[in-house]
Amino acid sequence: MLACAPRCNVAHPRVRDNPAMEEFVTFLADVRPAIESTLDRLLPTPEQAPTRLHQAVRYSTLAGGKRIRPGLAVLTGDVLGVPRATVLPGGAALEMIHTYSLIHDDLPALDNDDLRRGRATAHRQFDEATAILTGDALLTLGLTTLAAEPDTATGEQRRQAVAMVGRAIGSLGMIGGQVDDLAAERDWPEDAQAALEAIHRRKTGALLVASLRLAGIYANADAATDRQLTTLGEHIGLMFQIADDILDVEGTDSTLGKTAGKDAAARKLTYPGLFGLPDSKRMLEQTRNEALEIARGLPRQGGLFPSLIHYLQARDR
Ligand code: IPE
Ligand code: IPE
Ligand code: MG
Ligand code: MG
Ligand code: MG
Repeated sequence: MLACAPRCNVAHPRVRDNPAMEEFVTFLADVRPAIESTLDRLLPTPEQAPTRLHQAVRYSTLAGGKRIRPGLAVLTGDVLGVPRATVLPGGAALEMIHTYSLIHDDLPALDNDDLRRGRATAHRQFDEATAILTGDALLTLGLTTLAAEPDTATGEQRRQAVAMVGRAIGSLGMIGGQVDDLAAERDWPEDAQAALEAIHRRKTGALLVASLRLAGIYANADAATDRQLTTLGEHIGLMFQIADDILDVEGTDSTLGKTAGKDAAARKLTYPGLFGLPDSKRMLEQTRNEALEIARGLPRQGGLFPSLIHYLQARDR
């Protein structure tokens, strides 16, 4: 296995407390080496010029993230009968794009964080200009990878992949959510609940929806299946960010690998901030139940989706 940062085992929270998520945790541990080696193959080597930039690219990407997005793409591919080798390069592209979003999210002008994936953030470890350009390089390489790989996909599938992911992460998707997340700091909008849902749907949900739909593209899924994947992805995205908000309150720096308690300090519009912890947990549970219902309607009874959905509720990092 590749040398990887101290947090390689990040996907192993409290399985004993919640056996329903065990299958997914085992799956993610099994598929992780293939995700890491695909990233390793696709990222420029640290010796390639500009060397400092490529060192930063690898520092942030091969840093022990949970790999949920490529994991979701592979899991969806398993449900739809797509070979893992077909899904992995696109999954790695999603992880590059996600890592870019984290590097930029941590910048002083955005959330101003010092800790990410258990290490100094890119702008702390290198410098701000390098961090900005590292994000730019990862975003560009992610989209290029979707256009160029895998050679088992048709040109039309690759075109659809770039267009679909590009829309998800642009100003109508992830970037739009990030803009509104920052705008809502301190000054919560009048209809705070609607604003919060719209922020979470875009800043986190859009890329997670894209992770499911990407496998749908490689499977030539019909419109009805694409709609099912989208609805399920939206529930998964909402669960993911409600949990992220809760963990910011209840987690610790060492478990999360990022600074806890930052949302309240910045007066971010979050689920616990707006509804309190008990109601946030109830909403997480309700979204889980809806997600389980949708997953059961997929081929193979949704494969590992039910286990993943339990994991998303119980995750502690
Ligand atoms: C954190 O994402 C940022 C959000 C979108 C909430 P992850 O929790 O997936 O972070 P890594 O990839 O495991 O570091
Ligand atoms: C990050 O949301 C969303 C994106 C990076 C697009 P957060 O700001 O809540 O993520 P963390 O808590 O810093 O990981
Ligand atoms: Mg943020
Ligand atoms: Mg942040
Ligand atoms: Mg957060």
